[in-house]
Amino acid sequence: MARLITGIGELTTNEPELGTLRSAAVVLDDDRVDWVGPAHRAGPADERVDVGGRAVLPGWVDSHTHLVFAGDRTAEFEARMAGEPYSAGGIAVTVDATRRAPDDVLAGNLARLAHEARMQGTTYLETKTGYGLTVTDELRSARVAARVADEVTFLGAHIVPGECAADEYLDTVTGPMLDAVAEHVSWVDAFCDTGAFDEEQSERVLRAAADRGLGVRVHGNQLGPGPGVRLAVRCRAASVDHCSYLDEADVAALADSWSGAATGTVATVLPACDLSTRGPLAPARALLDAGAVVALATNANPGSSYTTSMAYCVATAVLQMGLTVPEAVWAATRGGAKALRADSGEGAVGVLREGARADVHVLDAPSVTHLAYRPGVPLTWAVWCKGVRLR
Ligand code: NIG
Repeated sequence: MARLITGIGELTTNEPELGTLRSAAVVLDDDRVDWVGPAHRAGPADERVDVGGRAVLPGWVDSHTHLVFAGDRTAEFEARMAGEPYSAGGIAVTVDATRRAPDDVLAGNLARLAHEARMQGTTYLETKTGYGLTVTDELRSARVAARVADEVTFLGAHIVPGECAADEYLDTVTGPMLDAVAEHVSWVDAFCDTGAFDEEQSERVLRAAADRGLGVRVHGNQLGPGPGVRLAVRCRAASVDHCSYLDEADVAALADSWSGAATGTVATVLPACDLSTRGPLAPARALLDAGAVVALATNANPGSSYTTSMAYCVATAVLQMGLTVPEAVWAATRGGAKALRADSGEGAVGVLREGARADVHVLDAPSVTHLAYRPGVPLTWAVWCKGVRLR
């Protein structure tokens, strides 16, 4: 069944040749966008929805979350707001709670948070394992995630669990753990940072993943300067996420990764995490100025960034990182899609054009500028995901 959305005040397509259209229409046919153009030229449809001059944009692509977990870390957050620094140490608390939780608790928690995200306009969601850290618990996490998320990333290399030595644990991650989860995941990630894994250890994980034909990504440069970005670029990772501590060479390497190539390494910045951990804000402005490709994501997790709101990330990227509204909206849609290599071809996400996935977000506002102009105000008016209206 085709549906027609019309009466649009401002339609952000994210296609250079289409850009922003006024008085436009989007025609959806099942789970695909069938047509985009001036409303007066739209053909007939089975159902019409007049959005009354509201702004329309592609659904958010949240390319970095950790939503398979149990437990709560409010106390850690309170301590941090009282002056304690963030370290990756709290991950072990969530690992303990996750291991003790039955599958239905993990699934219920994930479903609740995915629903929360979708009601705010997120229509394409990546999530990770990484709070199980045994073969059994990572497999449980991957299975639970694969039932809900669009893309699943294996993050066995999150931290070394307390009961293991690092080498012994990496043998497990790159061997039986990877074998167990491989059919449920499309990506493998390694946390290459102070207090997690060093460059050599992280590379071992990425090489094992590549040998099995899985895509790779990296958590890097979150807790301090380090080799994460350079490792990601060298291994042709789809993204390196966090990027809070970058030097000029890191910025240049990320920009260079795209020169002459169809795909490079996306710098995924996570402003909600930077703010919640009181860390430095990733230099998103400098990255864009250098020619790097930037994505914005929530990093929703119970420790460093407990929000599913992409709108909050867009607002903070504009207000605190110096992005323009169009740059931030692009990073939260097309940028996220590039970080997941889901931005091209039939069924592409993060864009409104013929053949793209029918993921549409309508704001209760006349333009996307209101996302930063009215920060903190719930602006989602309607959401279609794969052509199905969610709200
Ligand atoms: O992306 N950097 C590592 N992992 C998560 C944090 C998880 C936690 O504190 O529970 C992150 O911030």
